[in-house]
Amino acid sequence: MRDLVRETHLHAADMVLPMFVMHGSASREPIASIPGHARMSIDLAVAEAERAAAAGLGGILLFGLPATKDDEGSEAWDDEGIVQLAVRAIKERLPELLVITDVCLCAYTSHGHCGVLDADGRVRNDDSLELLARIAVSHANAGADIVAPSDMMDGRVGALRTALDEAGHEDVALLAYSTKFASAYYGPFREAADSSPSSGDRRSYQMDSANGSEAVRESVLDADEGADMLMVKPALSYLDIVHRVKAATGLPLAAYNVSGEYAMVKAAAERGWIDERAIQLETLTSIRRAGADIIITYAALEAAAWLRD
Ligand code: PBG
Ligand code: ZN
Repeated sequence: MRDLVRETHLHAADMVLPMFVMHGSASREPIASIPGHARMSIDLAVAEAERAAAAGLGGILLFGLPATKDDEGSEAWDDEGIVQLAVRAIKERLPELLVITDVCLCAYTSHGHCGVLDADGRVRNDDSLELLARIAVSHANAGADIVAPSDMMDGRVGALRTALDEAGHEDVALLAYSTKFASAYYGPFREAADSSPSSGDRRSYQMDSANGSEAVRESVLDADEGADMLMVKPALSYLDIVHRVKAATGLPLAAYNVSGEYAMVKAAAERGWIDERAIQLETLTSIRRAGADIIITYAALEAAAWLRD
């Protein structure tokens, strides 16, 4: 009877698996603070993508580690850049697997910020838009189905949409990291992607965790600029925002169950303090109940296996 009246369902197809790709071959560097995850060379990433497809996941989300970093983050829009090469390899083997790419500069710039800096070290919003648009177009050229800008510059959704359309990529969708908080929960990710800012922090472009109305407004702006899907990130401390953004926009909504959220569960489970399987499934179901259609989670493969048995 409980099955019959259950309001919220969790499926493998609702979940997206984040992956970190690097240059080289046959190499795998485990990420200590994101247990079960590793930076992978493209050959191994293709094998991981095959597991994601076999598990029936909704898709994968790719982050790249460049060979070199510079002030502008130029590998990010290089057609032979790490993400571009990975997308081509994965799409060649798995044309049906949905491939989402993270569009940002922070892992590619020597200073680690998500936009370009002026001489005083301040992020230049409008100058960054052109570079972000180049990244999105080159990801689309490589075969990405969805590009996901995570930089939080103002006006980037409109800029990316225009650039994609002009390049003939009307069918490539835009998943905006529309409400992204300046959060301490990104710690493990920054270790994985080597993307910590070398000075300052991201509070001039990411959201204040104390602000709910502004958080909703940020997502509405991205919807107005033409985003096909929105995102709230992190997920667990912000389930009220997930609910409000869904209600305000009605657009397909993703919630990013970020690295720190995953790490806390893993650490407590390792100590035997919690029941990992039960906690993960309860957590993921709660994110869906709050209003997320899509969950981006490092637990996607494990959760899909638990849902199968
Ligand atoms: C970079 C980016 C971050 C994450 C995704 N893209 C980190 C940040 O903004 O510093 C975090 C993901 C996670 O913690 O799992 N734009
Ligand atoms: Zn960034």
